Amino acid sequence: MGILKEKFIDGYDYKDIDIFILSNSNGMVAKITNFGGIVISLIVPDRNGKYEDVVLGYDRLEDYFENRFYFGGIIGRHANRIENSKLEIKDIEYNLKNNEGRHHLHGGDKGFHKVIWDAETVIINNRECLQLTYLSRDGEENYPGNLKTTVTYSLGDDNSLRIDYFAVSDKDTVINLTNHSYFNLSWHGAGDITNHQLKIYSDKFTPINEEGIPTGEILEVTGTQLDFTSMKPVGTGLLSDDIHIKKGNGFDHNWVLKVSGTHPEKAAELYDPESGRFMEVYTTKPGIQFFSGNNLSSDKEAKDKIRYSKWGGLCLETQYFPNSLKHKHFPSPIFSAGKEYRHTTIYRFMTR
Ligand code: BGC
Repeated sequence: MGILKEKFIDGYDYKDIDIFILSNSNGMVAKITNFGGIVISLIVPDRNGKYEDVVLGYDRLEDYFENRFYFGGIIGRHANRIENSKLEIKDIEYNLKNNEGRHHLHGGDKGFHKVIWDAETVIINNRECLQLTYLSRDGEENYPGNLKTTVTYSLGDDNSLRIDYFAVSDKDTVINLTNHSYFNLSWHGAGDITNHQLKIYSDKFTPINEEGIPTGEILEVTGTQLDFTSMKPVGTGLLSDDIHIKKGNGFDHNWVLKVSGTHPEKAAELYDPESGRFMEVYTTKPGIQFFSGNNLSSDKEAKDKIRYSKWGGLCLETQYFPNSLKHKHFPSPIFSAGKEYRHTTIYRFMTR
């Protein structure tokens, strides 16, 4: 139990970059680095009590400096895409970095998954937590406002990883944070997730165009491969010729959740029949992006000398809807100066 700290050394001792090892009374372990707030490993039992790492990642710190798949990182200031990289707040236009074609993705060139966070261990509600803080200066990646951000990771004895986000700015700004862990409940190197079964607590999604940008429509999932109102293998949709899947090159869509925002509510369940591992996702935010790891490739050796390939892991990213700045009927991620952003997401593990 508790939190241990060790240096993240792989050839070079980078000052101020450590690995924090969180564990609970059942032997669940989370390894998190204050570089990017990245969840490097998450070790949970299968139905036979075998503990394995269920998130994708690298062994070497240097590989996280590029991290082109955003493995495990905190995504900010804005998760997912902003069309044409344009941010307009009260008639002031900010040109963000276009780091994906014309568009802005996951905070720009140096998003929150690439910055060094200050780390300390704190006790909140009798629970030992890893608290990461970062001050993103006014103008960083062209976003307005000095943004004070705190992300708190903790493990519960119910085998849950809890992430509490807090941010506040001194200017009106956009705030949309998430975590980009890729899960493979069989084991991070087990191959593709097509046999994983998913349920999403939503009957609506935001369709995208060919560039992965929500068009502004909100559609019923009924009759599409995006219908996860009851558990089904994700491979069924991936191998289909559903028009929405074609546009996303797999699953890469946002579902509309019915959460109240006041406390974490169930958003999704993921089950791996092979290992028996079952994961629940709870959140306070109105959207969840299910991304099926469509672009994963084997170009780089990852943890345990594994080379990942397409669909090797999947993300369930809780957030405001992508491109909400353009579509005023989407819940707004704009926070006026001094208004506090709060977000809690819980990933809870069980077996069946
Ligand atoms: C997005 C994908 C993107 C991926 C980057 C996901 O959150 O939805 O479109 O390619 O992140 O690894």
